[in-house]
Amino acid sequence: MQQIVMQGGTALHGRVEVSGAKNAALPLMAAALLTESPCDITNMPDLGDIRTFSMLLRQFGAHVEALGSGKMRIQARSFASVEAPYDLVKTMRASVLVLGPLVARCGQARVSLPGGCAIGARPIDQHLEGIRALGADITLDHGYVYARAQRLRGADIHLRMPTVTGTENLMMAAALAAGRSRIHPAAREPEVVCLAEVLTCMGARVTGAGTDTIEIEGVSCLQPFQCTVIPDRIEAGTFAIAAAITGGKVEVAHCRPGHLEAVIQQLRAVGVRVEADDSTLYVERRGLLRPVNITTTPYPGFPTDMQAQMMALMTLARGTSIIRETVFENRFMHVAELRRMGAQIDVRGNTARVHGQDALTGAQLMATDLRASAGLILAGLAAQGETVVSRMYHLDRGYEHIEKKLVALGAKIWRQG
Ligand code: EPU
Repeated sequence: MQQIVMQGGTALHGRVEVSGAKNAALPLMAAALLTESPCDITNMPDLGDIRTFSMLLRQFGAHVEALGSGKMRIQARSFASVEAPYDLVKTMRASVLVLGPLVARCGQARVSLPGGCAIGARPIDQHLEGIRALGADITLDHGYVYARAQRLRGADIHLRMPTVTGTENLMMAAALAAGRSRIHPAAREPEVVCLAEVLTCMGARVTGAGTDTIEIEGVSCLQPFQCTVIPDRIEAGTFAIAAAITGGKVEVAHCRPGHLEAVIQQLRAVGVRVEADDSTLYVERRGLLRPVNITTTPYPGFPTDMQAQMMALMTLARGTSIIRETVFENRFMHVAELRRMGAQIDVRGNTARVHGQDALTGAQLMATDLRASAGLILAGLAAQGETVVSRMYHLDRGYEHIEKKLVALGAKIWRQG
């Protein structure tokens, strides 16, 4: 099993380019199932999750072709199967994004229930209630969801919370439903807006994306699309913290600073200098880090996907920071690993008190999920001595060529095994 090894303590300097966002790319790939003509997606990141999703689409009989330079063509002319099997869904929960498109286009779908996850229970009840509201008949059998409908019809969908992939699933289903649908409260994440733009290109009329109410006028047939995946705001934020935690100076290019306002605001509160233009963050840290209070919330609040990275930074602040996780119920798995590096963190319920100190020490660590891995890498870059992080497959699901990018910034990091 591969491990990442780091010799910490080098300040990072230079320029890094952010890749396309995994969490925007996956729903776009699912949207290609809504039409029989070829769809072209550019700025696709080269990631484990993208390969898994490609495999899933191929199982349905879709033609998925990597055309080089981050371009992908997907054509779902006809379907050999409408089943998302357990083996794939268990490795990637986002597989559930095929449910809406399959039932809308094929009139049926059989999708494995994802099961538990390292960061929380993560049920998909809101996806299912929404699809049911659109007129599908849903049954659960042997761990699978079976959804059937002659033709979905538009409906008012009231969600219990603004779920991101739930909103995306329902938007895709509603795009081929007869009549108008309304989703509330809808997720407001940039990835949802990116999908709304693509569905509009395809011929559905989508309004309100980016607000908490999305309306969709469905059509009977959707056109193919060509689109570009938006930059990964979480990767951009992770590199900004890499600069901050090592006391370096980094230009984070090819990103959308407007998608990172809550992160930028907190970095400035901590004492990190952050300037931004249209597509680049200029990040520099010279002085001491100040403690902060952070609560994760859905967009535009502070993202749960940046919580582990921010916690790594706060282990080196002067004073006690308070980090409250409100999106997932078990997203503090990195705490025990950070403690192995000497970090002082108390956790009570959904709140972590991080007592900052002068230094962390390198240690052998185990990654538990994608963003926890990123937090541990950041801690290792700043720690004294050698840090080894195992179970790197988590990181490879969502960070394209991360160690190459860090090496280019001067980090002493390599892969072994
Ligand atoms: N929830 C339910 N029922 C549902 C759906 C969600 O109770 O039917 C709960 C979840 O358990 C959670 C909360 O609602 O407590 C929010 O979950 P959400 O559905 O918004 O998360 P998601 O759509 O499964 C996406 C990202 C995650 C990111 C979250 C929150 C993708 C593919 N995944 O997950 O990304 O953390 O939104 O922003 O878009 C990652 O990239 O590492 C990652 C985990």
